[in-house]
Amino acid sequence: MIKPHGSEELLPKIVNTDEEKASLLDSSKSMKKILVNSAAAANLVMLGAGYFTPLEGFMSKKDVISVADNMTLENGLFWPTPVVNLTNQKINFNVGDKIALIDPNVEGDKIIAIQSVDEIETLSSEEIDNIINKVFGTNDRSHPGVQTFYDQGNTLISGKVSVINFSYFETDFGETFRTAMQIRSAIELKGWKNVVAFQTRNPMHRAHEELCRMAGKRVNADGILIHMLLGKLKPGDIPADVRDSAIRTMVDHYFPKDYVMITGYGFDMLYAGPREALLHAVFRQNCGCSYLIVGRDHAGVGDFYGAFDAQEIFDKIPNNALLIKIFNADHTAYSKKLNKVVMMRDVEDHTKEDFVILSGTKVREMLSRGENLPKEFARPEVAEVLMKHYIKGN
Ligand code: ADX
Repeated sequence: MIKPHGSEELLPKIVNTDEEKASLLDSSKSMKKILVNSAAAANLVMLGAGYFTPLEGFMSKKDVISVADNMTLENGLFWPTPVVNLTNQKINFNVGDKIALIDPNVEGDKIIAIQSVDEIETLSSEEIDNIINKVFGTNDRSHPGVQTFYDQGNTLISGKVSVINFSYFETDFGETFRTAMQIRSAIELKGWKNVVAFQTRNPMHRAHEELCRMAGKRVNADGILIHMLLGKLKPGDIPADVRDSAIRTMVDHYFPKDYVMITGYGFDMLYAGPREALLHAVFRQNCGCSYLIVGRDHAGVGDFYGAFDAQEIFDKIPNNALLIKIFNADHTAYSKKLNKVVMMRDVEDHTKEDFVILSGTKVREMLSRGENLPKEFARPEVAEVLMKHYIKGN
């Protein structure tokens, strides 16, 4: 199986045994506590679940700046986005201390991890502007990822972590949330050698379904890993539980049994387009996948990125940066001429009018008005799941 990123084996930061957990929680009683923001909590879940192998904790200022500027850590390892514990809270602890990190996303001041404080550093506003500009390609605060990053504060607490739990992901998405370890084991158990990963934050419509089918066929895959984001999204995006149910319905009806694994990971969407696509590739390699599908406007938002920027960035990184390969997909849509879903590059004789194309906004408008989605765009079973969600008034 493909090796994890920068390591011979996965390095999950979750505390393994109940005894160790109990002892850490016990010793946390004498530690200073800090309420982390949702982005840091999501980083902890990813570190705990092995997805961020070989990182062992939160990055220092040198690493963050190096990642932003060069897409490498100080030690030269390829890494595309900052993994940080940034805060605007008052610091009442010192370098060398261990601190308890409180989860902002669950009730009752629950500790999600213990962190060793290696350094406490301040980022100047110029440094923050530069990091954001490099990672998101813009400093425009109307970009949801940019605003979230600015909101985090400017005090950087770096150091290794021991993760105690997976926040709300195990309880709220027990059927779907999986760690990188679990996915690797499941792939091994199935005997799959060649696996294509599909990243998604949306319900899967016919174009997505066909993308998976085409990619699987073209690379002769043993199976497809549908790997959905379960964390925070911008307002208006379809909530994870509805998407999960829509995807399960689609796979049940339209894919052969045992060809698709439906899974999810606990991370908040960055909307960082190309940089996030690279991160997506890193953690799908850690899951044991040989390919990641990167299609149109992957991990994008609004008009901030060109439709295929997230594919082009893979040509700009060193050849040996990643082991996983990318399946580049062209814009995919239903062709009225051919009565099937096609990739536009495969049908040169078509014009725009030959395709059924609906924007996300249009889809939401139609569903809110109680209108059925065209069968060329969405499978009727999937449309029904979405319609129920909209009728409930969400
Ligand atoms: S993403 O933010 O997770 O990338 P989304 O769930 O919409 O958003 O897309 C999942 C994957 O499908 C991405 O690789 C995206 O580029 C690709 N994709 C979505 N719709 C299309 C389409 N119509 N044509 C080609 N690729 C698409």
